[in-house]
Amino acid sequence: MEKVVLAFSGGLDTTVCVKLLEEEYDYEVITACVDVGQPREELEKSQNSADTINTSKHYIIDARDEFANEYISRGIKANAEYEGYPLSTALARPLIAQKIIEIAEKEGATAIAHGCTGKGNDQFRFEAIIRSMSDFKVIAPIRELNLTRTEEMDYAKDHGLPLPSDKLYSIDENMWGRSIEGDVLEDPKNIPPEDIYEWTKSLQDAKDEPELVSVEFEEGVPIAINGEMMKLTDLIWKANEIGGENGIGRVDTIENRMIGLKSRENYEVPGAKLLIAAHQALEELVLTKDELRFAEYMSTLYADLVYNALWQEPLREDLDQAIDSMQSRVSGKVVMRLYKGSIMPVSRESDFSLHSIEQITFEDKETDQREVEGMIKYHGLQAANYQKLNR
Ligand code: ARG
Repeated sequence: MEKVVLAFSGGLDTTVCVKLLEEEYDYEVITACVDVGQPREELEKSQNSADTINTSKHYIIDARDEFANEYISRGIKANAEYEGYPLSTALARPLIAQKIIEIAEKEGATAIAHGCTGKGNDQFRFEAIIRSMSDFKVIAPIRELNLTRTEEMDYAKDHGLPLPSDKLYSIDENMWGRSIEGDVLEDPKNIPPEDIYEWTKSLQDAKDEPELVSVEFEEGVPIAINGEMMKLTDLIWKANEIGGENGIGRVDTIENRMIGLKSRENYEVPGAKLLIAAHQALEELVLTKDELRFAEYMSTLYADLVYNALWQEPLREDLDQAIDSMQSRVSGKVVMRLYKGSIMPVSRESDFSLHSIEQITFEDKETDQREVEGMIKYHGLQAANYQKLNR
């Protein structure tokens, strides 16, 4: 029997896929769950349901540090957000696909399967990597059989599959954020029920006192939080915790999906919002005006590529090089003030600061104010000529 490796989370889609791949496609199914920092209970759940469904083999691959160091760090350096969403799911997909390819090679499988539906972006992201980095056949049972969520539920019940949870939401989580879709959230008119949130406090429950958080960066990457040095994976979780306590990072947006659909999306991204805001605050101190304008442009390009399943596009690699070159001076410390969902830089310092207190102070005698007169006289020369004509 030919083997297929299925990217498996233990959620409804991938649970149903196991049985479909066995019964409708005639494969021996190997499941693999790539750990990109989803909550530990999620991993246990995936292990338990793999045991219950009795897949031929189940892998759990720890890719947490690789996700933080090779993917999220690039997201931070680029300030990458797509329509206000820090790309938590989008950044993880290329890595998950890569890990699944490695297992498929090791297992001598002939195909790779995923549980994406035919409406979302993740099918593009998985398949773009699988097709460009391997020759495996790709199977997408939910899309190929055009199943609805209710049909999947019925199929799971009929086949005695463990129903993942009573919740109707489709949730995707990793250390960079949590995405909640489906059910009542589908109608943009409906106010999200409080129970969709797990990482962030509501504004009324958030801390009543403002909290100061310091973040230190080295070449654009955070290395310490509140004076404590730690590896990026741990630092991200710390940032999630602190941000979440202060009601930071809830996003409720109408997102423009790849196939053109508008989709109401809810995210919890406390750490991402905190770290990107701190990173931007430091950039303002150390980069020139022209660099900042260009960084903003690169940021948009970068986020669009990541969102649009083009991680393997050479332009992404080119941008990474340009960004890294600029980030060589983005080292220093920022203090952010968090208070009930708001986030504000209140202190910044760096050895690479382009700000000069000697030059800007009103007490300065060194910069001769009179010398600026000539500059003013000729500023806007063409506009002045145009207005003269009008007169
Ligand atoms: N809209 C987000 C993206 O395309 C999240 C998709 C996955 N979310 C989910 N709940 N299944 O990156």
